[in-house]
Amino acid sequence: MENIEGIYRSGLATEFNENNIGQTVTLMGWAGKVRDIGQLVFIDLRDRSGIMQLVVEQDDPQLLKKAQGVHLEYVIAATGVIRQRSSINPNIPTGQVEVKVTELRILSKSEPLPIQDNANEENRLQYRYLDLRSPEMQANLLLRHKLCNITRNYYSDNGFLEIETPILIKSTPEGARDYLVPSRVHPGKFYALPQSPQMYKQLLMLSGFDRYFQIAKCFRDEDLRADRQPEFTQIDLEMSFVHVDDVLTVNEGFLKKAFKELKGIDIETPLPRMPWKEAMERFGSDKPDTRFGLELVNISEQVKNCGFKVFTDSIENGGSVRAINAKGLGDKLSRKTIDSLGEFVKTYRAKGLAWIAINEEGVKSPIAKFLSEEELSAIIAKMGAEKGDTIFIVSDKDKVVFDSLGALRIEIAKRCDLIDNEKYNLLWVTEFPLLEYSEEENRYTAMHHPFTAPMDEDWEFVDTDPARVRAKAYDIVLNGVELGGGSIRIFNPDMQAKMFEVLGFTKEQAENRFGFLIDAFKYGAPPHGGMAYGLDRFVMLLTGSESIRDVIAFPKVQNASELMSGAPDFVDAKQLEELNVSVTKANEE
Ligand code: AMO
Ligand code: AMP
Repeated sequence: MENIEGIYRSGLATEFNENNIGQTVTLMGWAGKVRDIGQLVFIDLRDRSGIMQLVVEQDDPQLLKKAQGVHLEYVIAATGVIRQRSSINPNIPTGQVEVKVTELRILSKSEPLPIQDNANEENRLQYRYLDLRSPEMQANLLLRHKLCNITRNYYSDNGFLEIETPILIKSTPEGARDYLVPSRVHPGKFYALPQSPQMYKQLLMLSGFDRYFQIAKCFRDEDLRADRQPEFTQIDLEMSFVHVDDVLTVNEGFLKKAFKELKGIDIETPLPRMPWKEAMERFGSDKPDTRFGLELVNISEQVKNCGFKVFTDSIENGGSVRAINAKGLGDKLSRKTIDSLGEFVKTYRAKGLAWIAINEEGVKSPIAKFLSEEELSAIIAKMGAEKGDTIFIVSDKDKVVFDSLGALRIEIAKRCDLIDNEKYNLLWVTEFPLLEYSEEENRYTAMHHPFTAPMDEDWEFVDTDPARVRAKAYDIVLNGVELGGGSIRIFNPDMQAKMFEVLGFTKEQAENRFGFLIDAFKYGAPPHGGMAYGLDRFVMLLTGSESIRDVIAFPKVQNASELMSGAPDFVDAKQLEELNVSVTKANEE
């Protein structure tokens, strides 16, 4: 094997084209394709930028022999003259030219690759360093890099300072489970990895930095999904002396710039803003996908006296009956499909899915027998339904109705191909509830986090009707995905103390967990607020990837392990001893 002593790379493969004909260049990269046709060898030299065709001819028999020994994924250096190609490839930037090689070095050999183009994800992740050679993965990480760059430039230009916050912190349970790191120096004590820089960025406002941002690693030990990783990255920011509008406006500028520079798309600002309540009632979701219709309609009024006990019971118990109209989709919604949609909503805890189909033969419905002519007509009228339409109805507690119909509208849109993938629908969802009742814990929990400020006009109801209190909180939603979220924070120590009390913390518990923040706010805290974007999710949506794993260089899989390196793994007994940690249960996998 050879090295690059004495030769110097002229540039990346695609930096050369017909304008460089006659120049001598040296390129270095991988052999992406090798075609040996006896008296000629063609090699596609690939580097980060793309490929350049190399040609080795028989005028130099020794060189030809060497070229014949180059196989796929060998790393080579080639020096030669750029010349016009005889067969032009219009699909690549270097398609007009090739390099007639005069010197070839084999820098590294490659064994046959253990994964091919069609490898499944498990294999791809096991050999991630090879998988990352694919043009798709290279493009995804390039776009990710560009977004980071835009982020740094935009926020810096707007007066934000990039400040790092610690990774080893005190455990202050917020929402998800913490990752813990044992301390060697303090036996029995643990650091937690941050779920977000939340408290630190608020303290930076107290310290007077006015505007902060950071591209921050966050860690949450929660169940993984296509858009969730145990370690992920946020574009995190905080601003002093601001109202909700100020935060939204500065971030609309960022979104505008990102879409323009990365996708060439002009997004119109201000972006639509939709109160949480409206989002739930119209879309059954706090992250509505507004690229298609199928909106929810409340038909409780139309069925409140009907003969179907399921409906009337739901209403009497404080729930509702709601429906969506699958407009003009009758042909695509066979009886079998409708039945499978009935099964689909059960995963969202709906007890059934009633439907009314209007077709050539008239009105068909399994619940027709429970409804009078008038009731049936009233539903059809309320839904604006006509021939070709199918109405889907769920009755239950509001939460179940929203969850199941919200998911159903997306499922129908996917199955019936109603989603325009070229569209990027951004909107703010605002006025979230401050609190959410947890049946499990039998208490109110913070919907966003305990530092979120209530809307001034609602705070008086915090004792008498906590569910009614709305927050100065907002999420940015892109095509049905929660891209980011934030809030104006509580900066008044008395209000913060009250908030901890409402959340069921005793004074001691609050002091123990959040004491440093409570203390700090006694020394002149400015009003402040901010938000954080999921960077991985943003890149996933911009690249049209199915999963955030496709935009993270070395992601984790469903069970939170990293297949390439094999993390997590057992450690030496000696390491555990030093940390004063003893393992009580270990599964040999
Ligand atoms: P939140 O918890 O809403 O807010 O997180 C902000 C954004 O981070 C992304 N995100 C994730 N991405 C990938 N994997 C995960 N496990 C994951 N969890 C969250 C989402 C989400 O919208 N400190 C607050 C922000 C603030 O109030 O300023 C926070 O962390 O896109
Ligand atoms: P049944 O008489 O139990 O067969 O129910 C008649 C129809 O009502 C079926 O299509 C069920 O799927 C539907 N159904 C049952 N429970 C509910 C519910 N909670 N909401 C909407 N539809 C329901």
